[in-house]
Amino acid sequence: MASAEAVAAVVEAGGAHVPALMRELEARLAALAASHGRVLGEHAGATIAAGGKRLRPLLVFVSAGPAGRDLALRSAVAVELVHSATLVHDDVLDAAVLRRGRPTVVAAGGRAVATATGDLLFSRAFAELAGGGSTEAVRLLSDASSALVQGELLQREDAWNLGTTRERYLRRCDLKTARLFDAACRLGALAGGGNVELLGEFGRRIGLAFQLLDDVLDVSGPAERTGKHRGTDLLDGTVTLPLIIARERSPALGGLDLRAVRTPEQAETACDAIAATGALEAARADALAMVAEAKADLPALPETQQAALELVADGVVDRYS
Ligand code: IPE
Ligand code: IPE
Ligand code: MG
Ligand code: MG
Repeated sequence: MASAEAVAAVVEAGGAHVPALMRELEARLAALAASHGRVLGEHAGATIAAGGKRLRPLLVFVSAGPAGRDLALRSAVAVELVHSATLVHDDVLDAAVLRRGRPTVVAAGGRAVATATGDLLFSRAFAELAGGGSTEAVRLLSDASSALVQGELLQREDAWNLGTTRERYLRRCDLKTARLFDAACRLGALAGGGNVELLGEFGRRIGLAFQLLDDVLDVSGPAERTGKHRGTDLLDGTVTLPLIIARERSPALGGLDLRAVRTPEQAETACDAIAATGALEAARADALAMVAEAKADLPALPETQQAALELVADGVVDRYS
């Protein structure tokens, strides 16, 4: 995952408050995951201990600036817990076997354990945020969580549908990914007294770009870098932008039967065919344009904060290179 270094750079550049808060975040996440019984604790703990880039908490801290420490920390913990919960459930829905380079909870413990583990992480997220006493913060995260579910449902509705349009694809990405980035920035702005609307808009745009690039990475791999098998989306019938563009460009892919792609080897072959059309570069260009717009429309901010937000935006793009 290329942006681990990008995240480290932001932690460094984001201001004196950021490194200490990131450490507190880790301690809090570990304590929360470990305190709910053996089976759930094991799986929730493993999910959290497996790491992840902690991009969304970082967005909370950088959007907050040095003020509003307690609410910023609670928000960051809550956002990462919602993110982790969603991934555990997402891997059930997507039948994914590998996450963060390790077996998924559903692969290791089965569907029931994964469902319960995700539920635990969700409930801990809201308990954490409620402790901060801001009903507005709870509402923001709750809205993002509802959007996430709607995005996942849209993805199921559109599964195997090769007629999925760009508009529908972008709507799905907005709901399932961008809205949580939006919430992370809004929560930070709320804690630190910043411009909630404009920072939210920034988060939403880089979140959308992030999902586009994730979908590019699913096709490009390699698995050693992404922590996931190549072509996972194709195998579960998820039609993403690279495939939509590739089908516009190549008559051979126009006739692709997605249901015939059943094995990892067949998925690799289909990924190669998509890549050969130049669709990955085209999708990446769309994501880069979104990031550039997000940066250009940032509100006036203290210099350190502005630089850190721009670095996060660049880190999203770095994921690809
Ligand atoms: C993965 O998000 C899910 C998507 C929205 C594409 P991340 O790539 O941020 O996951 P971790 O937390 O770093 O593992
Ligand atoms: C993002 O979608 C997952 C959520 C936002 C819940 P993906 O299904 O593409 O994410 P990965 O590829 O499994 O990480
Ligand atoms: Mg998935
Ligand atoms: Mg993916």
